[in-house]
Amino acid sequence: MGDTAKLILQDQEYELHVRVGTEGNRVIDISKLYAMTGHITLDDGFANTGGATSAITYIDGEQGILRYRGYRIEELAERCDFLEVAFLLIYGELPTAEQLEEFRQGIRRRTLLHEGMKDIFRGFPPDAHPMAILSSVVNALSIYCKDSLDPLDENQRQLAMYRLLAKMPTIAAFGYKQSVGQAFMYPQNHLDYCQNFLYMMFALPSERYHINPEHVEALNLLLILHADHGQNCSTSTVRMVGSSNVNLFSAVAAGINALWGQLHGGANEACINMLEQIVAEGGNIGKFIDRAKDPNDPFRLMGFGHRIYKNYDPRAKIIKAMADRLLSKQAATNPLFQVAQELEEVALKDPYFVDRKLYPNVDFYSGIIYRALGIPKNMFTVLFALGRLPGWIAHWREMHMSSSKRIHRPRQLYIGYPERPYVPIVKRSTEPPKEVSIQRPPQGVFPGGEFEL
Ligand code: SDX
Repeated sequence: MGDTAKLILQDQEYELHVRVGTEGNRVIDISKLYAMTGHITLDDGFANTGGATSAITYIDGEQGILRYRGYRIEELAERCDFLEVAFLLIYGELPTAEQLEEFRQGIRRRTLLHEGMKDIFRGFPPDAHPMAILSSVVNALSIYCKDSLDPLDENQRQLAMYRLLAKMPTIAAFGYKQSVGQAFMYPQNHLDYCQNFLYMMFALPSERYHINPEHVEALNLLLILHADHGQNCSTSTVRMVGSSNVNLFSAVAAGINALWGQLHGGANEACINMLEQIVAEGGNIGKFIDRAKDPNDPFRLMGFGHRIYKNYDPRAKIIKAMADRLLSKQAATNPLFQVAQELEEVALKDPYFVDRKLYPNVDFYSGIIYRALGIPKNMFTVLFALGRLPGWIAHWREMHMSSSKRIHRPRQLYIGYPERPYVPIVKRSTEPPKEVSIQRPPQGVFPGGEFEL
């Protein structure tokens, strides 16, 4: 019998089981708490709550350690290619040469989209955000790939995983081509995964396209570094939505939307915007540091801080080194990279950031490399999604293969009105009673024209 935690509630003592993870991290198992005590726990933002047991990724936020299926991210980043890491995350082991070739072939054969899907892109306005396009068209795969929707059927699960890994780069690139008014470039299956994506993004039907091997190497590295990160917001979303037994495409579409937020994957685009603004304002780093520290200013230093890492994000270290290497080959100095390094240096000496253990995270330097690859800013989070896809798939599959899988349905602490009698409309006032109401109804009628498109 392992450790227990004792809980005393209203003079009654309860014992809760303490479970110990592979690396000795300990959790209090509250899965029977409500049945035992009639109480639940409350933890806004789940900063103290584990939502799953998982064997996929281990993170030690204090030490700045990240491992995929036990392998250090530094080793995988140096020695693998992205599909090898995708196989590792999904199936739990590094593939043999035969397994890897079969995996590549299974993906290579599925990179095309149904021709009917091209009309979906044509319906988007030119200024549609690529993340909105990505989640919309990924969800549309649940319309065109009807023979791979059942998450309880292993064959359909496999088919859906291969299709998503194969088609998401095509969807991303087609979305970009649509936004710049260029012809879609169809995948070329003699190319490898990263070569194919760069080809679909930047080739033109009228020109021979030269694939830059340094760009392929940098993209491969970035996709590996973004491939998984435990129960982050978007992965938890894929698990939550997937727990209802909806198909993989729709669960991942939900994850894409969660990733889009500036506090999550959208931080890479927001960080470049911040660096560009600093450069445009003459490199006034102090102003941005002061704003970030001002409790009355909602501004945050984008690409800084992390819920788990209270040390330097190991991915940021690797990305910074790659940015340094890539940019050193470019003749002109890169003002954004210079400002980013200065900003990091100033922040890491400032007590506000030191006391709160705020360090650069994966999003701080990644945009510098995406720009160097010619990726437009509004596509940065799409690249994050392409990298994170194997992680989403791995967690979705792990959840469905778990014997304890059940629909995710958190409880709540109700703080609204007690029971109250109906009030006829003639007796209602615009000022609701003060004692409980949390949300004030909007004053006046919501402005709008005669009709909206
Ligand atoms: C990703 O979860 C993952 O694993 C995510 C990710 C992954 O791979 O999936 O690693 C990818 O999303 C990286 C994070 C990208 N987001 C950003 O860079 C946005 C800027 N960062 C912050 O918004 C913030 O650090 C978060 C959202 C990342 C973490 O937020 P938390 O854990 O809720 O921390 P918090 O907001 O409670 O901050 C604690 C304190 C607060 O100050 P006090 O109230 O104690 O005075 O630190 C401050 C915050 O104001 N703070 C910052 C800050 N981040 C935290 N102050 C200024 N600038 C920042 N960036």
